[in-house]
Amino acid sequence: MSRESGRVFNRFESPNLENPYPLYQRIRQEAPVFFDESLNLWIVSRHQDARTVLMDPEAFRSADCLQNPIPPPPEVLAVFMEGYPRLPSLVDDDPPGHTRVRTLVSKACAPQRFTAMEPDIRALASSLLDAFARDGQGDLVKRFTYPLPAMVVGGFMGVPVEDMDRLKHWAEELTRLSAGALTLERQVECARSFVAFQRYLAALVESRRKVPKKDLVSALIAARHGDYEPLSDLELIALLQTLLFAGHETTTNLLGNMLVLLLREPERWSALRAEPGLIPKVIEESLRLDAPVQGMMRTASREVELAGARIPAGARVFVLFASANRDEAVFAEPERFEPHRSDVSKHLAFGQGIHYCIGAQLAKLEARVALELLGERLPNLRLLPEQDFDYLPNFMHRGPRRLLAAWDPV
Ligand code: HEM
Repeated sequence: MSRESGRVFNRFESPNLENPYPLYQRIRQEAPVFFDESLNLWIVSRHQDARTVLMDPEAFRSADCLQNPIPPPPEVLAVFMEGYPRLPSLVDDDPPGHTRVRTLVSKACAPQRFTAMEPDIRALASSLLDAFARDGQGDLVKRFTYPLPAMVVGGFMGVPVEDMDRLKHWAEELTRLSAGALTLERQVECARSFVAFQRYLAALVESRRKVPKKDLVSALIAARHGDYEPLSDLELIALLQTLLFAGHETTTNLLGNMLVLLLREPERWSALRAEPGLIPKVIEESLRLDAPVQGMMRTASREVELAGARIPAGARVFVLFASANRDEAVFAEPERFEPHRSDVSKHLAFGQGIHYCIGAQLAKLEARVALELLGERLPNLRLLPEQDFDYLPNFMHRGPRRLLAAWDPV
């Protein structure tokens, strides 16, 4: 497919917004690597090509991958200037900077740190359920899948529970800012939230430098490796922001997408309740079939040929994980929900290569605990009929914003 193909990635037009998968299937078949002129973006949709991009971080850079294509107005920039300079952090950084920070973070995020969180996650999820199990019906996103990951990732980092509401508010404001379509006044308010968020994190780092605790912030401050400079305060602020963002909406969307898949076909939910041992497989298959992170951006550092297309140096490239996960060249009957498939681990829902998700283990642990508890505590959980799940028009994230369900009150 040439640069001049005229093809557009009309992802937000109905019905693609609610169900983008037929669109992905079409582009995989007709134009696996194509340039959308209106978005100034190359779209990569097949599994093999997605892997080629992800495994070559020298040719496909991550710096600027979170950059909003439309620069903020001067009033908003002026507010940002009152805060700390925003350093790139892991997801939007490249080697050698990325290698150093990732090595130090990996020291602080040992797998045992995640495993040890299971009792706390269970207690948090139970307390959320206690608050609404008797209602008999409600919005599972509002009551459960939205608050749980924020509380878990906050607890993981060492943010006191009483501060979580403030942090969640700031994080929401930032998501709104990046989604666009706000009045200037609202944009300025959102930018103020960004600065408030940075100041909060700076104070948290300072207090842990003085008195370390057994939390991630203290572990990140203490992380050392060979000749690497330890993480500076500015790096820690940027890193904590990245972790909070990367660990919140993504996991909310995993829980939401998984519940839609399971409850839309009630026999899937009954099968899972009869055999809870299937839960880990169901989580992997949900990640494959409806990826919470649909894709990520890269920038070509030089001209690259990919599947017959010539991607020029400097071009922005969007790697569609969610399409790669349904590539018929890799997965048999890819549209089918099949938790027993043996090759499910080939999915790219957590990326691949040097940027592979650092929180994958935590996200899967949360999902397992959530499914176990929902099965135990909300017998006969079912979707209310004829509802729309209200998906946000967002290239990167996908998940229902509303999930109206009913259950036998307990
Ligand atoms: C279901 C939930 C999650 C999904 C689907 C997800 C997905 C991803 C993906 C696709 C990437 C790769 C980005 C790229 O290649 O550019 C990534 C990276 C990352 N994720 Fe996750 N994530 C999830 C949960 C979490 C959690 C809970 C945390 C933290 C506690 C986290 C922290 C990160 C970080 C720090 C990176 C950047 C790693 C790097 O660039 O080296 N994620 N995630």
